[in-house]
Amino acid sequence: MVQKVGIIGAGQMGNGIAHVFALAGYDVVMSDISQENLDQAMETIRTNIARQTAKGRVSEEDAAAALARIKPVIGLDGFSEVDLAIEAATENEEIKKKIFQDLCPKLKPEALLATNTSSISITRLASTTDRPEKFIGLHFMNPVPVMKLVELIRGIATSDETYKTAKEVVKSLGKTTASSEDFPAFIVNRILLPMINEAIYTLYEGVGSVEAIDKAMRLGANHPMGPLQLADFIGLDTCLSIMQVLYEGLADSKYRPCPLLVKYVEAGWVGQKVGRGFYDYRGEKPVPTR
Ligand SMILES: NC(=O)c1ccc[n+]([C@@H]2O[C@H](COP(=O)([O-])OP(=O)(O)OC[C@H]3O[C@@H](n4cnc5c(N)ncnc54)[C@H](O)[C@@H]3O)[C@@H](O)[C@H]2O)c1
Repeated sequence: MVQKVGIIGAGQMGNGIAHVFALAGYDVVMSDISQENLDQAMETIRTNIARQTAKGRVSEEDAAAALARIKPVIGLDGFSEVDLAIEAATENEEIKKKIFQDLCPKLKPEALLATNTSSISITRLASTTDRPEKFIGLHFMNPVPVMKLVELIRGIATSDETYKTAKEVVKSLGKTTASSEDFPAFIVNRILLPMINEAIYTLYEGVGSVEAIDKAMRLGANHPMGPLQLADFIGLDTCLSIMQVLYEGLADSKYRPCPLLVKYVEAGWVGQKVGRGFYDYRGEKPVPTR
């Protein structure tokens, strides 16, 4: 039975995952390597829960209780008590493997281990841990408090029991699962990211401006956000990592990351989280950067 949850990485995904678990009544330890990111994460959770309270979706008491259930930590203090640890750190295989190496000896033998990776092989990540049968992909969508879906990805060794427990945990958060086999980028990003990459090629080749491309897809395909705005929202570094995983994992040139995406990442203009990507967010209104 899962009661206490540990989250590694307090970025945009980690703070959202902490938020929904705490609201569902779980005790949460949220870890990062940066105090600044931890402080920022707590601030974001406070603001987002306050928004839910203002809309009448969460009572003042539940909001206060949820916030009190989240313990931010630097390092892995408190992880020896968790029943489920969810890794939600930077999308980089080496970083994730190092986290598992440090984390596994601290976990209870029966604790489940999950990763929120957008694209990296669950089987490969699981094989670097001491518990491949208790390892699973729990792929939350951004923004976590709003999005209903969690993709469940079993590695080759994931046990039926782990899968069943993970499914129940997701249900207890008021969310729905879709099961994906363990292939590069799973279902949602296998389909979504090539679309975003194609939108960046469309910009790169001068077919349309940032505004024209986003407007075309919003009004022409009824997408709630244009693909370039969505790329900024996801993070261009994360988008590039996912395209690289698709390109390398499926060895098909149709997944080649657009050179313009690479250039934005090299410039550090990785989207909304840093204030600049295909749009500049530093003023009152987002302004296209080309
Ligand atoms: N952004 C999205 O839309 C989205 C959606 C679904 C899944 N994901 C996945 O979620 C994960 C996190 O993405 P994000 O968008 O939150 O990234 P982010 O850059 O916002 O946050 C990553 C956080 O991890 C922390 N971190 C790095 N190394 C660490 C370590 N060794 N120990 C603890 N913390 C560490 C960083 O300090 C940072 O706060 C990635 O695997 C990503 O692919 C992202």
